[in-house]
Amino acid sequence: MELLEHAKAAAKNAYCKYSDFPVGAAVLTSSGKIYTGCNVENASYGLSICAERNAASAAIAAGEREIKAVAVHSPKLKNCVPCGACRQFLAEFGDPDIITEEKTVALHELLPEAFCI
Ligand code: THU
Repeated sequence: MELLEHAKAAAKNAYCKYSDFPVGAAVLTSSGKIYTGCNVENASYGLSICAERNAASAAIAAGEREIKAVAVHSPKLKNCVPCGACRQFLAEFGDPDIITEEKTVALHELLPEAFCI
């Protein structure tokens, strides 16, 4: 199954009762494994977490340290690119290709001069 298909499947589990904007993400790591996540919202809106950060965190929790590609899918938006916070979060673990239905771009194109230490 291609990475975007995994993201699509993950979007089906989105918990998005406040925004009604489901998102799924699938992360491909340097070991060749795939990890998925969906957005999880909260009644205290600011606590909501994006699909990309949940997918990346699942990978890291499994012991992965390098992210090669991230596919993002929302049934409501063809070019669902990661938000600013997720771009910075992902930059911690590499310069992955960001894949949407419309295009593929390198993370550094979406986040030039990322803060890294
Ligand atoms: N969201 C994501 O999960 N990823 C994105 O790339 C854009 C936004 C979520 C956050 C919130 O739950 C909902 O989509 C609306 O912003």
